[in-house]
Amino acid sequence: MKNVTWSSRFTKQINSEVLEFSQSLSIDVVLYEADISVTAAHVEMLCKCGHIKTSELKKILLGLKKIKKLAESGKLPWSIDYEDVHMNIENNLVKIIGEVGKKIHLGRSRNDLVTTDLRLYLRDFLDILVDKTRGLQFVLAKMAQSHSTNLFPGYTHLQIAQPVIFGQHLLAWSEMISRDENRLINARSDLNIMPLGAAALSGTSLKINRAMVAKKLGFEAVTKNSMDAVSDRDYVLDFAYCNSMIMMHLSRICEELVLWSNPQFNLISLDEGFCTGSSIMPQKKNPDVPELIRGKTGGVYGSLFGLLTLMKGLPLTYNRDLQEDKTLILESIDTTLSCLHIITKLISTLKLNKQKAIEVASSSFSTATDLAEYLSKKGEPFRSSHHIVGKIVKFCEKKSIKLKDMDIKDLQKFSPNINIDVFKAIDPENSVNSRSGLGETSSSSIKKQTSQIFKKLRKFGYK
Ligand code: ARG
Repeated sequence: MKNVTWSSRFTKQINSEVLEFSQSLSIDVVLYEADISVTAAHVEMLCKCGHIKTSELKKILLGLKKIKKLAESGKLPWSIDYEDVHMNIENNLVKIIGEVGKKIHLGRSRNDLVTTDLRLYLRDFLDILVDKTRGLQFVLAKMAQSHSTNLFPGYTHLQIAQPVIFGQHLLAWSEMISRDENRLINARSDLNIMPLGAAALSGTSLKINRAMVAKKLGFEAVTKNSMDAVSDRDYVLDFAYCNSMIMMHLSRICEELVLWSNPQFNLISLDEGFCTGSSIMPQKKNPDVPELIRGKTGGVYGSLFGLLTLMKGLPLTYNRDLQEDKTLILESIDTTLSCLHIITKLISTLKLNKQKAIEVASSSFSTATDLAEYLSKKGEPFRSSHHIVGKIVKFCEKKSIKLKDMDIKDLQKFSPNINIDVFKAIDPENSVNSRSGLGETSSSSIKKQTSQIFKKLRKFGYK
């Protein structure tokens, strides 16, 4: 009979299509390393607590080592007859070391095992993602550093609003990614709690030492309720949410890359290696990478919604529905990782079209606010300054001239507070550098921001 692990109460063999349908090996095989580590820590504890002999422990550990080697070299005979990764490892162990291999499942169940394995597996990926977010922040800070004086248009409502420095915009992106980094770190601490020992749902009648296993596996604590322990997947959802937030940020960044690289904006050029042409229109250079990242965001949100829906209405405790969690979270991680990776490269190769950026940053009365602030510095209440400048802008529009091209005498007709120093106040370069407070857009503020980012990242090897 297939699947000897649980089949003794059955008289009929499992339908082969049902086996094919219900197996999770094709997805959860990636948990094999975690499963071996968890089993090794578990049996060491069983031995310490007197449930298995030292000689048995030695055999089991040796067997597990062999299984790991075989799996690494692709030689472990995985079979869907054993449903999932856990039963594959157990059955292979018994084949290699004999009857003693059957002792590993004492005091545990697949219900607590699968979620323990998954926590370990996801913990590693959280760490990889944290590192990727740091890599992206590093590239952004580097770029910001080398563009700490280049003017760039700042937008509200996608209308030119005020001049900024290109580095400031890049550092805004870096802030988003820095919050993503923190979010992942927080998710890690909630995830790093061990459910093993909750067994099927109610714990075990054996005296075991869960804290010992937790310590061996690097968990910070053990779960406090056995029923919650086997059915909780909050940590999976937290991870999916972190990924969704990352992708939401990347998608916003990508939208800007698509816009800016569009010839009608022409503010940046994307490296040709990251673009494709059209099969019919020979002139086209399409921003496919940012478009794909923007598009893939939908799939990552989909994983989060899939997980939320998976959990909705699930009664305690373990239900087979939970097996679907892995498909969703693995896809979410895979996509988020590859997007973070490729966008870091893309950003590090983009070129600012400096002249065009200056031109646009200086257009559309972008320093009108500076003029209003100039008037208020001379004593005009801000509302009146705003009103006066509105009239000046109207005047300029009528005459089709720029603010800076106005005659001083014409300007003075709008307010006696205006002097010749007004031209300095409305100069875009002066405008950005007058904003030198914490987090503002001046070159000096940008340098402070980048040096803080470098200081943080240096601790993690980014130099
Ligand atoms: N493959 C299962 C999963 O991923 C493991 C747990 C199975 N437990 C059970 N009682 N059938 O959820």
